Amino acid sequence: MKILVTGGAGFIGSWTTKLLLDAGHEVTVVDNLSRGHQESIDSRAIFYQIDLSDQYRMEGILAGHDTVIHMAALIEVGESVKDPVSFAENNIVNSVKLLEAMRKTEVRKIIFSSSACVYGVPSKLPIMEDDPLGAQSNPYGITKLTMEQFCTLYHNLYSFDCTILRYFNPYGPGELHQPETHAIPNFIKSALAKEPIPLYWKGEGIRDFIYIEDLALAHVAVINLTGLHIFNVGTEKGIKVMDIINKISDILGYKVEVNDLGERAGDVMANYASFAKIKKEVSWEPKVSLEEGLKRTIEFFRQKV
Ligand SMILES: NC(=O)c1ccc[n+]([C@@H]2O[C@H](COP(=O)([O-])OP(=O)(O)OC[C@H]3O[C@@H](n4cnc5c(N)ncnc54)[C@H](O)[C@@H]3O)[C@@H](O)[C@H]2O)c1
Repeated sequence: MKILVTGGAGFIGSWTTKLLLDAGHEVTVVDNLSRGHQESIDSRAIFYQIDLSDQYRMEGILAGHDTVIHMAALIEVGESVKDPVSFAENNIVNSVKLLEAMRKTEVRKIIFSSSACVYGVPSKLPIMEDDPLGAQSNPYGITKLTMEQFCTLYHNLYSFDCTILRYFNPYGPGELHQPETHAIPNFIKSALAKEPIPLYWKGEGIRDFIYIEDLALAHVAVINLTGLHIFNVGTEKGIKVMDIINKISDILGYKVEVNDLGERAGDVMANYASFAKIKKEVSWEPKVSLEEGLKRTIEFFRQKV
């Protein structure tokens, strides 16, 4: 299959590109490099440095592709609160331009990167795909909810095949966001530097941490689906954030101090996914244990310092 990955220079996009290539697909990467890293893109992929706002150029390269995996977005929640206009423009308007470019070039299949944040405060655990969607506490979440609806609309109006993947908490080698606000890379970087680990809620929050290779393989697994699908991509294991710190300590073999940052407005205290639906549909399930994933991630950051 000929697949175009937007945001393919980013953390999740670069892993997905590599695993699609390994599975025998042809991959075109589009990224404006505003956040991603060109050196993260697998050399077997064809790369175009294009901003998604340039609908004309996108139409020029889209023709002939079978599928688009749409990952390009601004992702930092705090930044979205400070600059909602940029998030609405980039994550919504530019994504709708992409859908229009696809419609015009007759590329009618999209896999969209959504997020567990669409559930808001979950009504029960583990979260199932048909659980109610929740109120959003920041503009980033609204952009994900809105684009889920736009993708569904293009399925209804134009018969697009559309798979929405709601990621839980991806982590792993190659996570080089700037700024980095995610727990695991920040914990590991602080622990390696023997600096106190910044911690909200005394580490009592519960999250579903999914190893990046497993997450990326979910895209490979759903690539042949037709119609409209929505899947959680998580591990079904709720892990206390403090337990992550303890596991990092155990792997490193020394105790790490924490820097208590208190509470943080807008945080959901606990979420984790049911992955029964994607398992039933395409036999995907996570394979890499948290201990193994953390070891590989620590090794990656050890090489970086
Ligand atoms: N990382 C997470 O924890 C997480 C969780 C849930 C959902 N997601 C979603 O997964 C997707 C990928 O996330 P990531 O962690 O790889 O982020 P990332 O920042 O590493 O990658 C996003 C990429 O998109 C590119 N990009 C942004 N705007 C663009 C534009 N207008 N034109 C072209 N390229 C553009 C950036 O340069 C970057 O390389 C995003 O849609 C994000 O919302 C991420």
